[in-house]
Amino acid sequence: MLDRQNRTIDYLRISVTDKCNLRCTYCMPADGVEDLTHEEVLSFEEILRVVKAMVPLGVKKIKLTGGEPLVRKNLVYLVEQLHQLPGIEDITMTTNGLLLEENLPALLKAGLTAVNISLDTLDPDRFRQITRREGLDKVLSALDAASRSSLRSVKINCLAVKEFNEEELPRLALLAKDREIEVRFIELMPIGFGKTLTPIPNTQILETLEQVYGKSVPYEGRLGNGPAVYYQLPGFQGKIGFISAVSHRFCSQCNRVRLTSSGFLKLCLHYNNGIELRPLLRDGISDHQLTETLREAIYNKPLHHSFDGVKPEGEDDQLELKNMSQIGG
Ligand code: GTP
Ligand code: 5AD
Ligand code: SF4
Repeated sequence: MLDRQNRTIDYLRISVTDKCNLRCTYCMPADGVEDLTHEEVLSFEEILRVVKAMVPLGVKKIKLTGGEPLVRKNLVYLVEQLHQLPGIEDITMTTNGLLLEENLPALLKAGLTAVNISLDTLDPDRFRQITRREGLDKVLSALDAASRSSLRSVKINCLAVKEFNEEELPRLALLAKDREIEVRFIELMPIGFGKTLTPIPNTQILETLEQVYGKSVPYEGRLGNGPAVYYQLPGFQGKIGFISAVSHRFCSQCNRVRLTSSGFLKLCLHYNNGIELRPLLRDGISDHQLTETLREAIYNKPLHHSFDGVKPEGEDDQLELKNMSQIGG
């Protein structure tokens, strides 16, 4: 469907849990957040009902997120059921990779088409410092398994943070040298604990990579369903991508809404605008009413984020106060 700004909304990000097996400093407090109770979390049946109600609105692409999506029990079943829904064409996942390798065969069989693996460092000590947990070996092993698999695409999400990985970024880019994967650098957004750290502008990262590896060529094709732009570096099999939400606002191309694990339909990453779907689902709303409620809410999606402090003219959207782990990125 088109929203009030004529943007085509065809992509739903579903956060299946707010729990995670890491504690990344930019995402969660050290002792985690108080878990939602079992009753507060949407069941797979409820999630599927929301997705079914969105298909008539033109939603075709699903991204599973968390917390860490693979800590939700039986996630493979949800992928299988989504895959069987007429109208759903693409089911992808953004994961920290810890549980990916052991789940990969079942996920592929169930119909998962692509994965993005979050990885901000190749140094075990720094991995521990950033995530407050162990697990770098598992992530690297999952990356290899995923890039050898039949997945349509495997991407790395590397959050560039001055305090953590600035001098390591060229080395991280090298992951795309001999693998047909995309390494994407993400500008830190001032959301949750992201406000406490220092972003690195993506233009600066591209300059550094060109100094080390030679002049890049912009890649004109589309890879996936997100806002990343891609470049080819000389001699690299894979591509380098940039998600520059802060320095290059891409909201006029936004194609997505989000469903949190507690059943909140979230209309924009930066604001808490949306509707609580859980009570509606549990109070017996009809399929038709549900679709129409979603249509009206999505139509009024906020125009753009205000990371620069400037809200859309005439609007008074309330800023998001949740952590990234509760939103799913
Ligand atoms: P694919 O390339 O199709 O996999 O999609 P994607 O880039 O949307 O997926 P992913 O979940 O890997 O998101 C990558 C980064 O983009 C994360 O840091 C997200 O927080 C950020 N991001 C995703 N959607 C939005 C959005 O609507 N607005 C902004 N500002 N950032 C977003
Ligand atoms: N800004 C940008 N991206 C973020 N992520 C987590 N916190 C932030 C932030 N403040 C990214 C993670 C993960 C994706 C889902 O969101 O690195 O790859
Ligand atoms: Fe977990 Fe992802 Fe947040 Fe890290 S960024 S704590 S992996 S939800």
